[in-house]
Amino acid sequence: MNGSSGTPVSATPGHSAVYPGSFDPLTRGHLDVIERAAQIFDRVTVAVVVNPQKREPLFTLDERETMIRSSIAHLDNVEVDHFRGLLADYVRRRHATVIVKGLRVVSDFENEMSTALMNRSLSAVDTVFLPSDPRWSFVSSTLVKEVYNLGADVADYVPPAVLALMRSRRPSTVPPHDRSSA
Ligand code: PNS
Repeated sequence: MNGSSGTPVSATPGHSAVYPGSFDPLTRGHLDVIERAAQIFDRVTVAVVVNPQKREPLFTLDERETMIRSSIAHLDNVEVDHFRGLLADYVRRRHATVIVKGLRVVSDFENEMSTALMNRSLSAVDTVFLPSDPRWSFVSSTLVKEVYNLGADVADYVPPAVLALMRSRRPSTVPPHDRSSA
């Protein structure tokens, strides 16, 4: 994009975005959102919540951060961090100007809308929603864990670094198309 002087300018100069989540584990859908956010904003921090409130995580905080770090190595304006407590406090501490969230399906919007308004009320930081790429609109960490725990191969749904760790935890996993020849 060119400014009026013809000088190339960033689409949103000075914007530092936080992309928060449990990332238990990072999916290809998450990575797609990160890559697109990295094109829009000057800096993107992938912020892993320390204790997801939902349930016991499959991966430790260290594992989740390491898998993300490996998966974003090609993006030089993206970093990984973690936070405890309120997201609103974290974005204020980091002087972030935007929270990024991905929206996969319409039902995501209902939760995310009230969360975004609460976060703006608490921190004055707005949330920008990026629609999920249709290829990943059915992919969630929860479903990936469920099918993985039931023996499915998850190569299509998670980045290679995540797949490597998942396979190392369950070395006997054989992709379904190889099973018949075993
Ligand atoms: O990947 P997830 O599990 O959907 O991410 C949820 C997350 C981490 C973004 C959300 O639980 C969160 O913001 N937690 C921090 C606690 C907080 O600020 N809660 C109030 C939200 S209005």
